Amino acid sequence: MWKGVEQGFKNPELQLKSIDISSNNLSGEIPKEIGYLVGLVSLNLSRNNLRGEIPCEIGSLRSLESIDLSRNHFSGKIPSSLSEIDGLGKLDLSHNSL
Ligand SMILES: *[C@@H]1O[C@H](CO)[C@@H](O)[C@H](O)[C@H]1NC(C)=O
Ligand SMILES: *[C@@H]1O[C@H](CO)[C@@H](O)[C@H](O)[C@H]1NC(C)=O
Repeated sequence: MWKGVEQGFKNPELQLKSIDISSNNLSGEIPKEIGYLVGLVSLNLSRNNLRGEIPCEIGSLRSLESIDLSRNHFSGKIPSSLSEIDGLGKLDLSHNSL
């Protein structure tokens, strides 16, 4: 589910398209290796206890349409690489310390 709509993955590519581990109690930082998940369309890590900076590698995820990192403890700057994601339709960074 992203952007409030249930989505289906019809093509058989074995590529991870969506991660939703929201509303858990995850702590620590987002690993830079997130930049390898190039097929990712939707990322929802909201409502956890994640901290540190948002890795600039997130800008490598050119397929992303939705990013929700709200309600964590992220700090530092919003990576400028986010502007390289052309299809980004939804970006929620609310309730952090950016
Ligand atoms: C992310 O997950 C939360 C529930 O844990 C939900 O309320 C929110 O709408 C989701 N974000 C998006 C962009 O779908
Ligand atoms: C969440 O994790 C923190 C440690 O990272 C812990 O202190 C806290 O009790 C946990 N909260 C819940 C609801 O499990």
